[in-house]
Amino acid sequence: MFYLCTPIFIPNLLNEDNIFILAIESSCDDTSAAVLSHRKVLSNVVATQQIHEEYGGVVPELASRAHQQNIVPVVHQALSKANIDKKQLSAIAFTRGPGLMGSLLVGTSFAKSLSLGLQIPLIEVNHMQAHILAHFIEDEATKTPQFPFLGMTISGGHTQIVLVKDYFDMEILGESLDDAVGEAFDKSAKLLGLPYPGGPLIDKNAQLGNPKAFPFTKPRVDGLNFSFSGLKTAILYFIQREIKKNPDFIHENLNDICASIQCTIVEILMDKLKKAVKQTGVSQVAIGGGVSANSGIRKALKNAEVSHGWRTYVPKFEYCTDNAAMIGIVGYLKFKEKQFSASSITAKARYTIGS
Ligand code: KG4
Ligand code: ZN
Repeated sequence: MFYLCTPIFIPNLLNEDNIFILAIESSCDDTSAAVLSHRKVLSNVVATQQIHEEYGGVVPELASRAHQQNIVPVVHQALSKANIDKKQLSAIAFTRGPGLMGSLLVGTSFAKSLSLGLQIPLIEVNHMQAHILAHFIEDEATKTPQFPFLGMTISGGHTQIVLVKDYFDMEILGESLDDAVGEAFDKSAKLLGLPYPGGPLIDKNAQLGNPKAFPFTKPRVDGLNFSFSGLKTAILYFIQREIKKNPDFIHENLNDICASIQCTIVEILMDKLKKAVKQTGVSQVAIGGGVSANSGIRKALKNAEVSHGWRTYVPKFEYCTDNAAMIGIVGYLKFKEKQFSASSITAKARYTIGS
């Protein structure tokens, strides 16, 4: 009988003094590689795929092809920026999921091959867990939360509130039942004729507008779950109605519309966070994901520090958006616990924290 050989490379002696992790992230439309020495980021290279802009959203097949073109130069650049030879690497960490299957397969296959070639351990990483553990990257400019804390990941693909009891002990308290919050920003922006991704542009215009100019109804969703698809429809009908009365409505009111949309989305997020704090008794809140850049949510969190006594945490922006450094910090934490993966491991498009 033949068995498929699926080795796990476990170093005989873990060299705890010189741990170098190469991390690879390819779950959506960013190809990224990073090198970490313990918790410190030596390099974090991100190739953002511009091709999707002309389609107004990520096209999975194009993303996968672009990852194939980018992965070798991005890894090369990460190693050379870090001034590390691949022979010095202790392990390779990679995003196993969740994400687009075609995109994940590129990073997974690359990481598996390199780990086999170099005969060093392979470490699989859950992308959502990595967004949260990005807070533990060594960075003098930001504070690190203490356990337990509430992690809220807000991005173009996800909206999730998680109770974080320890590095590898997390419980999902709520998530979006339909669109992610970043999608709500991007789709609203598209209705206003703004280019993709529209989130940053809504934010920019919102800062010059009146957030109470146009009230939008907030969705009623039980517990700590979210829903953003109804808001998008409400905005669409509102704009269609107003344009019928005044064809220049968007142009004349752009700042007020953006401010009103942003205010509604921020209120939806803050309402759920307040509920989560009340339910758990945990008032340390750490956010991550691309939408963490939003000035409205940052301001609301700062206000909650004063009005509700919360402690809030936002990582450096390059560790909020999709990046390999956050995969690397999980790789490092797993390396210390010898949580290695077999080379038979496969990508997992649907991969829930804790599954
Ligand atoms: O985490 P990310 O870079 O990629 C993933 O989706 O995983 O997040 C991108 C999302 C986009 O939807 C983008 O519009 C949104 O983050 N975004 C913002 C802002 N900056 C980025 N949304 C609102 N305000 C911003 N300042
Ligand atoms: Zn992400």
